[in-house]
Amino acid sequence: MADRKPFVGGNWKMNTNRSSASDLCRGVADALLRVDTADIAVFPPFPYLLLVRSILRDRGSSIRLGAQDVYSRPDGAYTGEVSVEMLKDCGVEVVICGHSERRHVLGEKDDLVNQKLRAVLEGGLWGILCVGERLEEREAGHTDVVVQRQMKNGLTDIAGQHLARLIVAYEPVWAIGTGKNATPQDVVEVHTKIRGLLTGLFGAENAARVRIIYGGSVKPDNAGPLFAPPEVDGGLIGGASLVAGDFAAVVRATTRKH
Ligand code: 13P
Repeated sequence: MADRKPFVGGNWKMNTNRSSASDLCRGVADALLRVDTADIAVFPPFPYLLLVRSILRDRGSSIRLGAQDVYSRPDGAYTGEVSVEMLKDCGVEVVICGHSERRHVLGEKDDLVNQKLRAVLEGGLWGILCVGERLEEREAGHTDVVVQRQMKNGLTDIAGQHLARLIVAYEPVWAIGTGKNATPQDVVEVHTKIRGLLTGLFGAENAARVRIIYGGSVKPDNAGPLFAPPEVDGGLIGGASLVAGDFAAVVRATTRKH
């Protein structure tokens, strides 16, 4: 099996302010200063990207700076949007595309997610493609169909050469922010299907490079069992990433994988 370094991201969503973002970033950087067994990233709100970058640099941290979203066009009359080049200019290395909150609260469709992901990967950054079914879709037995559609549409026209910088996050919508995590078996089942889809689309060698991570109510007390299976290459963390000690504990839960 390919040797994939675990990845753990802290998605701060629309939380923190200038002061609490600074405190959180310092806390996370200090708690994880000597951890190099996982790739770690934090995703602050746009206005705090430069602030967080400067704290990470001052602390000598290897934590990567991430952005929660991006727009696909390089520049122009797109009020309120932010380009890949702007994010790179601010030190961003990894970008989330198609988070379920953008899909279901803000109405983003697969083709827009695909355009964003292509811009991110073609711009040389790491891109996280988020996929996952809603509760009613799971209950109707449609998990596979939904994930397959999001994967195929999300990855349209992505070149195989970019796959080493692709991360797929399986985030079942019913598990996000609800305290109801998927079981490790649920996660392994869907991750195995995702790996199979990647293999069908890009061939086994390219597919093996892609990290597939889980997101949805990951906390220090469930991270160990969720990250233990070889099919799970880490996690995307919401609520628990807002408490430095909790986020550090979740990251540490990946250490025995490497
Ligand atoms: P929670 O960890 O709060 O469930 O959020 C998960 C998530 O959406 C990460 O992107």
